[in-house]
Amino acid sequence: MENKKDTDTLSKAAGECMVLLKNSGDFPLNGTTEIALYGGGARRTLKGGTGSGDVDVKEFLSVEKAFAEAGFEITTTNWLDSFDRILDKAHQDFVSAIKEKAKERGVPAFIIGMGAVMPQPEYNLPLDGKGDTAIYILSRNSGEGSDRKFMEGDMKLTKSEIRDILALSKKHKKFMLVLNVCGVVDLEPVMEVDDILVMSMLGSVSGYSLVDVILGKCYPSGKLSSTWTKSNDYSQIGDFGNQDDTRYREGIYVGYRYFDSIGKKPLFPFGYGLSYTNFSFEITGISNFGGEITISAIVRNIGKRAGKEVLQLYVSSPEGKMEKPYQELAAFCKTGEIPVNGHENVDLIFDLSEVSSYDEERASFILEPGDYILRIGTDSQETKVCTIARLDEEAITCKTAEIGGTPDFKDWKPSSPAYSGHGEGNRIGDVPILNIDAESLQTSNNVANDSIIETKSHNESDIDDEDLVYLCVGNYSDTQGGTGILGSASTSVAGAAGQTSSKYEKYGITPLIMADGPAGLRLSPKYRKEGDKVRPAGEIIPAAFRDFIDDKTLELLGIKRDDEQEETGPVFEQNCTAIPTGTALAQSWNPEICSFFGDLVGTEMEKYKVHLWLAPAMNIHRSPLCGRNFEYYSEDPLLSGIAASAVIEGVQKHPGCKTVIKHFACNNQETNRFHSNSIVSQRALREIYLRPFEICIKRASPGAVMTSYNLLNGIHTCNRKDLLTDLLRKEWGFDGIVITDWMVTGTGMPGNHKYPYASAAGCIMAGNDLIMPGSRADCESIKKALEGKDPEYKLTKSELKTCVNRIVSLAANISESFNRR
Ligand code: BGC
Repeated sequence: MENKKDTDTLSKAAGECMVLLKNSGDFPLNGTTEIALYGGGARRTLKGGTGSGDVDVKEFLSVEKAFAEAGFEITTTNWLDSFDRILDKAHQDFVSAIKEKAKERGVPAFIIGMGAVMPQPEYNLPLDGKGDTAIYILSRNSGEGSDRKFMEGDMKLTKSEIRDILALSKKHKKFMLVLNVCGVVDLEPVMEVDDILVMSMLGSVSGYSLVDVILGKCYPSGKLSSTWTKSNDYSQIGDFGNQDDTRYREGIYVGYRYFDSIGKKPLFPFGYGLSYTNFSFEITGISNFGGEITISAIVRNIGKRAGKEVLQLYVSSPEGKMEKPYQELAAFCKTGEIPVNGHENVDLIFDLSEVSSYDEERASFILEPGDYILRIGTDSQETKVCTIARLDEEAITCKTAEIGGTPDFKDWKPSSPAYSGHGEGNRIGDVPILNIDAESLQTSNNVANDSIIETKSHNESDIDDEDLVYLCVGNYSDTQGGTGILGSASTSVAGAAGQTSSKYEKYGITPLIMADGPAGLRLSPKYRKEGDKVRPAGEIIPAAFRDFIDDKTLELLGIKRDDEQEETGPVFEQNCTAIPTGTALAQSWNPEICSFFGDLVGTEMEKYKVHLWLAPAMNIHRSPLCGRNFEYYSEDPLLSGIAASAVIEGVQKHPGCKTVIKHFACNNQETNRFHSNSIVSQRALREIYLRPFEICIKRASPGAVMTSYNLLNGIHTCNRKDLLTDLLRKEWGFDGIVITDWMVTGTGMPGNHKYPYASAAGCIMAGNDLIMPGSRADCESIKKALEGKDPEYKLTKSELKTCVNRIVSLAANISESFNRR
């Protein structure tokens, strides 16, 4: 954020990501006034979650400071001071308990502490803030390495929070509950509150944006990207958070597909969100062209303020051979700003084949004959039937290969037919029928598309056989100093998560620099130069580790604290912007907003010379408890895929800047993440978990894919040739590189687990081109398999060359674009 204008633009864009859950009409306020600010998020405002999804920024304004800067008089400074002391004490106790536990188990504290977030503590402080208006900013954080819990202080509100929120809503003339949260919280106990806003975590401008929304300088126009309801109502059908094997027994019934199909009404459904104004809409046209259906509508602003609305189109497919969820999102469209009394015409377009179901027996996507009921509305439950698409006979829309393995159970299905209905949304009435001829539908056969994986040729004869191995691991070299077992983070851009081998330089190829996301570009705000290398300066231990990392672990990771370095010199700065989290972006339901923030990241990548952004992250919100949900978009694959594609387009319009979509695939929990086996049916895999990746690859051509830590049906994803070669490359036509998640092969990590770490040689054989950050053990594993000395993995030089080829092609493409700037 270079100036006020930037801040205003960012703040307005971030406003689109906030979701107004309840609205009495008391907000926005007419002007600044005395205000009583309470809650954990007022002073310790969260701009993002913890871990690699956290972006270090130079300056960050809390909600408290943003309100003060805007001219409000904050009447609760004493309360906030006292609450700070309570939080500090609770934090000390929390860290001590983790250290104690680690000691008992004989493991380093960071193994247990990584990503562990302290539940909000109970407290009892007088609610003595003055003024007509009060705001309670509820805070919940989470991050990689740990999952959330259905407990008070986490998913549930604490007794103190409930007591104070209810009391404040009675005491003050105007009261708003603001949720500065990483994901869902159970709002059941405070449903009587009349004004509730999901602020989410909005990056650098979080505080400003909230003030702007409260003052009506901008307005919330987001819709929920996942269902918010009572803790007890979330599906318990599948496993979650198991140590070793996690069975996705619920199959395709994830999120609203589950709630709708069993007729359970959530507190706030998928797609829900109010506005400061009111809208009405009307269908103006319906057409079908070879299965491509267009619904045209006019949206009118019938309220008293300007705003934006999202129209959503859901399809209920006929049940035939396969059971179907009640409905699934098929298209959506957000209007531009509509002034009072204004209107906008919108088109919702989708191809019927996009709602095909995956028939495991035939390894094909099919559309069954019958009536496809199309519902249009402003959330998943406020819909009306607008037409019926009547398909004359079964259509096989896509033949595929069988990939991903098979689970040891049959997917759950609802005991009664899925059409449990939601009032108006279930009344079919007199609607037009679109007769669809199965033969007119677009079909494809993706089974044997071998030509796609032929790699582009390069001067591979120029590369020494000896070097091939090193070129497939991150920046590791046998001669590196220190403990030297691990590849290092980038030495070219401080704070970047990694880079490809410096051996590439020998062949005139620039190593690829990779920096984390998804909440912006994660670099060190401060760094020093040492010859032609750089290293982070100041606080170098990531916040998520700070309380738990000891000197022994630092040594193992080859990390030296800034003040322990032999040479020091001037400190340089890199100022990056934290953007709204993945969930917040999806809540905008606006690809333009997603692309706007992607563009901002691309601009900073150009500035700081980063080639690959380790984002977007697009795992599905399978459970509200996944610790990394805030990085991910939605419980719905279409919304995830469209939001992520727009982010990718925003980044990649910058020449030489590419994205790395992650974590491929089924990385839906953090518990035991290196060794957790996701057991999933092929249908759920295809329709739910792989679909966002497929959408992105086909729409937005990301430069790379990052495989996940977990296993999929018994094999690590980075070791699954069916996933990486048969599906990703042959079926979907992906032509970039595949890289591992960091340390998936486990170098130096303690472990006694049911499932071992992934194999480095297995990665290369599967088509996972690059092992990050790379280690001596990785090189040895590859060499052993190459020499035929590994009983399990027999690697050929041609397989190794194929991986190197792909990295070289991407690097050539990137540096060509960089040079053309
Ligand atoms: C995370 C990735 C991240 C990588 C590099 C891993 O722990 O799972 O999402 O990109 O670290 O920082």
